[in-house]
Amino acid sequence: MENAECVAFLRWSLPRLQLRWEGFRKVRRQVCRRIQRRLHELGLPDAEGYRAYLATHPEEWLWLDTACRIPISRFYRNRGAFESLAENVLPLLARRVEEAGEGELRCWSAGCASGEEPYSLALIWALRLQSQFPGLSLRILATDVDAHLLARARNAAYGASSLKDLPDDWVERAFERSNSLFCLRSEFRRDVEFRLEDIRKEAPGERFHLILCRNMAFTYFAEAPQERVAALLRESLEPGGILMLGSHEELPVAVRGLSALDGHAGIYQKL
Ligand SMILES: C[S@@+](CC[C@H](N)C(=O)[O-])C[C@H]1O[C@@H](n2cnc3c(N)ncnc32)[C@H](O)[C@@H]1O
Repeated sequence: MENAECVAFLRWSLPRLQLRWEGFRKVRRQVCRRIQRRLHELGLPDAEGYRAYLATHPEEWLWLDTACRIPISRFYRNRGAFESLAENVLPLLARRVEEAGEGELRCWSAGCASGEEPYSLALIWALRLQSQFPGLSLRILATDVDAHLLARARNAAYGASSLKDLPDDWVERAFERSNSLFCLRSEFRRDVEFRLEDIRKEAPGERFHLILCRNMAFTYFAEAPQERVAALLRESLEPGGILMLGSHEELPVAVRGLSALDGHAGIYQKL
């Protein structure tokens, strides 16, 4: 299938999945490769044939929805964002939790892929902040719609490229080598719980001090589901809680009750 043919197919099919073409522009090649393999499996000649197949096999839309998930992640992805978390956001929230006489800082990583994002948070806490807040513990819930990615997350073994943004001495301290893989030591895993959840359908049902929802809903979802997810995230935050999006993402304008923090792109606070 030619690039132009695949792009035309994606422009037609993504809105039908409540996704947006603009989010997929940069990553279209990996989605197109999956679709090409699928055409081959089904013995279909081209995108036109696949459209006809979708019309007579509605269950195939589920396959296509799965094929449009982008699993890219790495530790400390967008370093500046994690520096903001370590320098400003987490200390601010930790002080507030302490002042309220609570013992636990609750975080949610929504769309956690293979665990790189929630484990980065656990590393910041253990290696940079825990000693300043000895009476506090950090609990991280990490959710994703993809069971295969969650199995990898629980396994916590990564190739070198996943760690390239981490400070070198953290790699030394936090990982054990096993052939070509880097395995996260158990002490950095115990605060993270992984759960299979589709953010379009459900939320964890508790309130968090910090939510990370990066490079998922506000890149790939269409406007209506973006608004629903934003409302769900707002309801899942404690008052004064912080929501962090990806560095190129912003909330839909229609969403109320969350205000952008000055000087911090993609970071919002619940009013
Ligand atoms: C590009 S990765 C982002 C990973 C991480 N947040 C980061 O920024 O590095 C997007 C993740 O969102 C997950 N995802 C996509 N749709 C989802 C949904 N409806 N509910 C929960 N997770 C979803 C995908 O499986 C994938 O792991």
